[in-house]
Amino acid sequence: MDFKGRDFSKVLDYTPEELRYLIGLAITFKEKKKNKEPHRYLQNKNIAIIFEKDSTRTRCSFEVAAHDLGMGVTYLGPSGSQMGKKETIKDTARVLARIYDGIEYRGFSQSIIDELAENSSVPIWNGLTDEFHPTQVLADFMTIYENFGRIKGINFTYFGDARNNMGNSLMIMCAKMGVNFTCCAPKQLWPNEELINIAKAIAEEEDCTITFTENVEEGATNKDVIYTDVWVSMGEDDSVWEERIKLLSPYKVTSEIMNMANENAIFMHCLPSFHNTDTKIGKEISEKFGINDMEVTDEVFESKQSKVFDEAENRMHTIKAVMYATLK
Ligand code: CP
Ligand code: NVA
Repeated sequence: MDFKGRDFSKVLDYTPEELRYLIGLAITFKEKKKNKEPHRYLQNKNIAIIFEKDSTRTRCSFEVAAHDLGMGVTYLGPSGSQMGKKETIKDTARVLARIYDGIEYRGFSQSIIDELAENSSVPIWNGLTDEFHPTQVLADFMTIYENFGRIKGINFTYFGDARNNMGNSLMIMCAKMGVNFTCCAPKQLWPNEELINIAKAIAEEEDCTITFTENVEEGATNKDVIYTDVWVSMGEDDSVWEERIKLLSPYKVTSEIMNMANENAIFMHCLPSFHNTDTKIGKEISEKFGINDMEVTDEVFESKQSKVFDEAENRMHTIKAVMYATLK
């Protein structure tokens, strides 16, 4: 398998074997980290991480993973660089590729990642776009492996806004990994037809299923993994909240849903999550719409079945694996 110099733009670009290899590599790095075994394999390299949207996990994971591998890091936030204002994406890519060995980008359209990749001689890593979040799903599937000791054949349901970056990426990742994927959401929030057809074609090869339902009971029954994400993603207009709450309230992950799932089922969420009113936005939404949680109840979020902080930790190990494989 040859990863050197490749971009990590979306899961679709990688074969199931390559994705399994990256998860295995992340598990090795996790052990090294726990055993305090130094792994500064990429000394004298430097990376730039560009964030046009906010981040806690992704930014910290790239920074710590880079430091652990011996690399230097430059953070470019939503303001303070010339990108997108005085300088085009194309020129930015050509400049940064002269200075850095790899570039992470979090922002808006997937086409920006494509443009960066076309104009950069060094790897471009996708830290989330409107369409895809590939480093997140790598961490999610590492977490599934840690819990069940296997990935293939797992029954997985995604509840909520399934046409966002997480719905899209999870559907494709499930297909590639031989995981039976169910999307449980109102029809208008299912992924676009073109992507569904791609997922179904992959699923046929990998011997798994891609299913869509609006029925919560069908979505939850016999499932090993119950996954959800925020109802309104970064970059969406505030005006969508009301309709989204109305559409998705029946799909909130509650203990009733977890009880319908298999006995050893786990709850997953990429985070951040609205599971109480202790945040600024959580409070605003609560005051405006009279609700105290959104995509998941606090009870499920805080339960033993919830693996959300394992996923968060695994972001760092999987991002490290991606950087190491593409730069070594
Ligand atoms: N899950 C995730 O990408 O989190 P951040 O937005 O904090 O990076
Ligand atoms: N769908 C979410 C994922 C955050 C990690 C968003 O784009 O805001």
